[in-house]
Amino acid sequence: MKVALVTGAAAGIGAAIARRLARDSIAIGVLDILIADAAKVAEEIVAAGGKAIPLQASITDRGQVKAALDKLRETFGPVTILVNNAGITGVVPFEELTDEQWDRMMEVNLKGTFIVTQIALPDMKAAGWGRIVNISSSSAQSGASRMAHYSASKGAIIALTKSLAVELGPLGITCNNIPPRFVMNTIMSEKFFAEGHRLREQWVNAGPIMRQGEPSDIAGACAWLVSEESGYVTGQTIGVNGGRYI
Ligand SMILES: NC(=O)c1ccc[n+]([C@@H]2O[C@H](COP(=O)([O-])OP(=O)(O)OC[C@H]3O[C@@H](n4cnc5c(N)ncnc54)[C@H](O)[C@@H]3O)[C@@H](O)[C@H]2O)c1
Repeated sequence: MKVALVTGAAAGIGAAIARRLARDSIAIGVLDILIADAAKVAEEIVAAGGKAIPLQASITDRGQVKAALDKLRETFGPVTILVNNAGITGVVPFEELTDEQWDRMMEVNLKGTFIVTQIALPDMKAAGWGRIVNISSSSAQSGASRMAHYSASKGAIIALTKSLAVELGPLGITCNNIPPRFVMNTIMSEKFFAEGHRLREQWVNAGPIMRQGEPSDIAGACAWLVSEESGYVTGQTIGVNGGRYI
């Protein structure tokens, strides 16, 4: 049985990834700062016949992440799949961005990914097999007005993905990233609409695929990227975006 840690898995895309990987008989560590919601996701997975435990940690806190990883390993065994999904966003005109806003974005999205990946690596190295999937953002590919700090943090995730692919490939570990664009039904996207940063119509039927993006779309690609079948794919950016960035 393979074991995966999915960060930010209490909601949205992360929860969809956790549910989808569990369907492939992968035991899941549902990590989030929101422990009650993480517990609900884990319960759902177990009720559907899968294996999962909730884990409370902030990805920015090395001690919390280590404790969570230890608990997951003790419960299900070595952790050889990591999905770095947890992230925050923000919409601020570039000239108004404060040092604090910039630092917080980098701390969660970039340093958090660094911390979790570093702590998760030993099991993958020992197994001579591992899969890392980073959830970036199409804003890193296309740019995004008033989201310079967010898109810069996600661009760094794409660069990190490539460097890890090069460094870890000889150890049997692949590292790829998925940059979503306009995924509905998540806390992040609903907040966007509520705060008026984007119009719902911009996200639905914007084409070329004439429907909205769902968390399950990202989860499907992630399931393949963590499978045996994707073993010759590393360092790649797999756009799951309805063709909205090509
Ligand atoms: N929804 C979209 O359209 C979209 C587009 C591009 C990229 N993304 C990326 O996809 C990922 C998931 O987005 P989503 O829309 O599902 O967001 P979401 O806000 O619905 O879920 C993010 C989860 O991460 C958790 N989280 C935040 N900070 C954390 C921390 N420090 N430690 C642990 N957990 C933390 C939150 O509690 C939440 O459960 C994010 O990295 C986001 O940047 C989303």
